[in-house]
This record gives sequence, structure tokens and C-alpha cells, in this order.
Amino acid sequence: MKIFVFTLLSDFGLPRIADTKPAEIGMPKGDYLWCSCGLSAKDPICDKAHKGTGLTPYFFEVTNDVENLKLCMCKHTKTPPFCDGSHNRFLNEKL
Ligand code: FES
Repeated sequence: MKIFVFTLLSDFGLPRIADTKPAEIGMPKGDYLWCSCGLSAKDPICDKAHKGTGLTPYFFEVTNDVENLKLCMCKHTKTPPFCDGSHNRFLNEKL
């Protein structure tokens, strides 16, 4: 009998580094889900591509219309959904 054990997400290489710099975008007031897996076609916003990965999106609320939010695209920020500079360690990564 074979038993396959998946050790969390490292077996899948997730979260995927979607980019090595943040998305700088304007957003209207509203509720959003930040993609934490890096697989979303609408990244940095969740499109439910995380299903089956064990990762979940991060809910955040934009209370006023904003012109320039820096949302993490490397998926390694310690302050989701915002960029905290963690991407700097991936600058030489090939995506
Ligand atoms: S893009 Fe992830 S910390 Fe900056």
C-alpha cells in the first residue's frame, strides 16, 4: 500500500510569487479578498484559484476611495494585504 503525504504547500511551491514588486493600484471603497496563493488571474484580488491549495484569501476593507495602494504580489508579506518590503529578497527570482 502506498500512502502519499503532502507536506502542506511546499510540495506545490505555494504560495506562488506572482511578482517581485507590489501592485500599485487605485481602489474604490469596498470589501476585497487579497489573493494569498499567487494563482489568481485577477491578482492581487482573489478569483478562487486557491481552491484545493489549503491557502485562503485575506479579507480587507477599503474605507475610502484610494489612488495608490501597494498590495503584496510576492505573497510573503508579514502585513497582508500590504507590501512590507519582503519582496526584496526575491528580486533575482525568475518567475
Ligand atoms: S510585494 Fe510582497 S512584500 Fe512587497
